[in-house]
Amino acid sequence: MVVGKQAPRDLIDAALMARDKAYAPYSNFFVGAALRTAGGKVISGCNVENAAYPEGVCAEAGAISSMVLSGETKFDEIAVVGLGDVACTPCGGCRQKIREFTGPDATIYIINESGETLLTLSREELIPHSFGPENLK
Ligand code: THU
Repeated sequence: MVVGKQAPRDLIDAALMARDKAYAPYSNFFVGAALRTAGGKVISGCNVENAAYPEGVCAEAGAISSMVLSGETKFDEIAVVGLGDVACTPCGGCRQKIREFTGPDATIYIINESGETLLTLSREELIPHSFGPENLK
């Protein structure tokens, strides 16, 4: 954990705005995520559930899909916000997705509803000893 490093304001605002759009009528757990691409774009996503519960899509996954659609495949930092003051740490699948599109210097911020930074993590802290594209070479 990188103690004291606060999430940047633009990522906080984008993640909170995305969370307001979440479609989560089954869990009522609303999540927003916003990432900054290597090219400097801020791209956000929200969780989108459906009646076949396991087919829901996480906020991080939505943001990553939008990033790829926008023509970029790398990001440097991402902020994630869930409900209230509970740290919404990315699920296992999202950790692997974040791994795919980041370098080792990426920063993952977990913020609360008030925009305060709860956790600031390196990629290694998020997904230690990860399997990535390099393993396939
Ligand atoms: N969820 C996310 O969108 N991101 C996370 O990092 C954790 C969980 C969503 C999935 C589901 O729609 C809801 O939160 C409850 O699990």
